[in-house]
Amino acid sequence: MRESIYRAKSINLLRTAAAVFWSVAAVCVWAGDWLPLAKDGVHDPKSPAVKLLQQPRDALSVLTPDTAGNQVRWVESLEKGEIKPRSRLRKETQVRTLDQDILLDIKGSMPIVRFPHKAHTEWLDCSNCHEYPFKSLIGGTKISMFSILQGEQCGVCHGAVSFPLTECLRCHSVPRPKSEQTAPPNLDPSYHLPRKEGP
Ligand code: HEC
Ligand code: HEC
Ligand code: HEC
Repeated sequence: MRESIYRAKSINLLRTAAAVFWSVAAVCVWAGDWLPLAKDGVHDPKSPAVKLLQQPRDALSVLTPDTAGNQVRWVESLEKGEIKPRSRLRKETQVRTLDQDILLDIKGSMPIVRFPHKAHTEWLDCSNCHEYPFKSLIGGTKISMFSILQGEQCGVCHGAVSFPLTECLRCHSVPRPKSEQTAPPNLDPSYHLPRKEGP
């Protein structure tokens, strides 16, 4: 996974302008059904292996469905025990998980981002994210939607191998308290009520 992060980084230039397009395209390609291997543009349709390999539809249609990405709600599927991935290849590998949510509090009107360590460490090792692209320190990394859309930070995986960036509310999942919503300081909403005079 570490290697693929670097690979993803090295193709960043190509992806830069097309980041949003990728995530939208991912939704379009997958909408409706899974393409058979012979038509997915990845496998050689003339190869005999295409007849031997399991078709994505057979493997994925039995899992918890999603409306985006590759149409599987992976976190739920793992929780329900529909899949039981091997946690390590080598005996000596130490498997580390962490059940801690981090609220990435942004200024503005979007709901707050809840980053769940649990859902991530069930698939990934700490070293996939720490200390790059994220320092293991709250507020230690300046995270922005702009970088994410360029395929950096959360966008290294989201929009590439995990659910696409078009699913805004899956990350921006915590409603902002009303009192925190920004309004010009001199604006008193009560002036918009009937029969009240302005300043
Ligand atoms: C998918 C990426 C990812 C993985 C994997 C990950 N983390 Fe994090 N971690 C984050 C992000 C994002 C933050 C918040 C960074 C910020 O606020 O700038 C964070 C913050 C932290 C913090 C700071 C929390 C605090 O209270 O100060 C610690 C400690 C931490 N992680 C430990 C771990 C450990 C241990 C593991 C493995 C068991 C792990 N992380 C796996 C992304 C990840
Ligand atoms: C190293 C890869 C990686 C990075 C970086 C990463 N994620 Fe994820 N994320 C995953 C994977 C894998 C899953 C599980 C598969 C899926 O849901 O598509 C996931 C799932 C999630 C979920 C879904 C939890 C659920 O209950 O369905 C949220 C929310 C999420 N990520 C937010 C973030 C945010 C916010 C960041 C950046 C701060 C981030 N992720 C960075 C790989 C990553
Ligand atoms: C993979 C998770 C993820 C998804 C999906 C996502 N965001 Fe974000 N977004 C973040 C994170 C993380 C931040 C930065 C939080 C911080 O400041 O610490 C952020 C920040 C923002 C900001 C604040 C300004 C900025 O540039 O940082 C806006 C606005 C925003 N997102 C809009 C959106 C919209 C609209 C969508 C859907 C098209 C979306 N986001 C989808 C994770 C996500």
